[in-house]
Amino acid sequence: MIKYDWRNADEKIIGCENGLNINYEFENYKELIKNIISDLNQRKDKPGQWLQWMNLGYNEETLWYVKEYASMVQGRFENLLVLGIGGSALGAIAITEALLKPYWNLLSPEQRNKYPRIFFLDNIDPDTINGLLDILDLKKTLVNVITKSGDTAETMAQFMVIKERLEQELGEDEYRKNIVATTDKQTGVLRQIAEQEGYKTFVVPDDVGGRYSVFSAVGLLPLALVGIDIDEITNGIKDMDLALKNTNIHENIAAQNALIHYLMDTQKGKNLSVLMPYSAKLKYISDWFSQLWAESLGKNKDINDNDICVGMTPVKAVGATDQHSLLQLCNEGPNNKLITFIRVENFDTQLDIPKIFEYTGIGYLGGKTMNNLMDAEADSTKVSLSDYSRPTVTVTLPKVDGYHIGQLLYMLEVQTAIAGALYNINSFNQPGVEQAINYTYALMGRAGYEDSAQTLQERMNTFSAV
Ligand code: PA5
Repeated sequence: MIKYDWRNADEKIIGCENGLNINYEFENYKELIKNIISDLNQRKDKPGQWLQWMNLGYNEETLWYVKEYASMVQGRFENLLVLGIGGSALGAIAITEALLKPYWNLLSPEQRNKYPRIFFLDNIDPDTINGLLDILDLKKTLVNVITKSGDTAETMAQFMVIKERLEQELGEDEYRKNIVATTDKQTGVLRQIAEQEGYKTFVVPDDVGGRYSVFSAVGLLPLALVGIDIDEITNGIKDMDLALKNTNIHENIAAQNALIHYLMDTQKGKNLSVLMPYSAKLKYISDWFSQLWAESLGKNKDINDNDICVGMTPVKAVGATDQHSLLQLCNEGPNNKLITFIRVENFDTQLDIPKIFEYTGIGYLGGKTMNNLMDAEADSTKVSLSDYSRPTVTVTLPKVDGYHIGQLLYMLEVQTAIAGALYNINSFNQPGVEQAINYTYALMGRAGYEDSAQTLQERMNTFSAV
């Protein structure tokens, strides 16, 4: 199992101005945490609660269909192109970066065991899309278009471009074989198109929000298509789920981390949450977590509709690289951050640093390993942060494999849901995002948004006048 260490957030190490009396707080919040965990587990099967993500690790049917389709198309495509944004892309980006061999797309087909190269389009920059289309042979590309709502402008605009090109290159009869759509089972434009055009489809289950959907077909399908063992991932989720059903905060690491974050924010003024894996392969876990944490917890109403303004701002970092960018600020800037390190006990490989240049100031590095250096840097950063009374917590993975990645992501999801309950907010909606989406519809001329378009134009004219 992955491990969690909160000692460097405790007042015994960093002093009571910035640290918490953590054992005292665990006792203090014991009953509330117990109620939160029981409540989540009691509500998780009820429709409309947006808690179906807690059941995804057990969805044998999805696993079966995903694996069946992946084996059916294996060897048929050189490339997999994933179209999606936010929760429809970030999970698969994070996990493929973590679990595929580094520089996957540069490996030969044999080195990739004939699994395809993988590309994600999660933005609408015309230059990058055109750049990708210049190098991709669409005839040999499987396109997985993913959108739960089925009408996200960014994803659907990408899809319109790609679909037209596919059809031009492959012809009306053949192009469909290169498309697989993942969307709601009933609603949304993509579902409508998929049924009309006869695409292969997978379902984003009901009551699973985008940012909690990585373990549905949204994430599992692209992972299986590039040969990642999705059973290993779900085994990790299930074991973590079992551990996190424990209502005793002393034995539940997601509850501990949620409470420590909540108290650091509300009592100690640490309203920035830095996630800093000491592993380049885990870099994109920070991107995925940022969306999960920010969209879930950044709210201006509590569940009783009272005005509040809560949420810790997530900050993405990676060790050791960001020791040379963020660490100065973390150590000597405002003491407003809680830093979570993710450590890896065993890297897949070892890299020896040769014993050369012994007569120079870098001679001390020779004879050590890159693994030693990574550990030394992570340890030193943690200690130096505590010297400056800066709180840190550490999550440790025995190794970066599917089993532990499943555990880690699921733990972070549960931690977010528990933190939301502590803030007394709805962690599963995103009204503040929808506002801008509606404005975009208006500006792009979507039917039904004419009035907003008029108002928006007037407001934009006012801005430019100022
Ligand atoms: O968490 C969320 O719900 C969002 O970030 C969505 O994932 C994102 O907006 C994409 O939505 P959709 O999958 O409907 O295209």
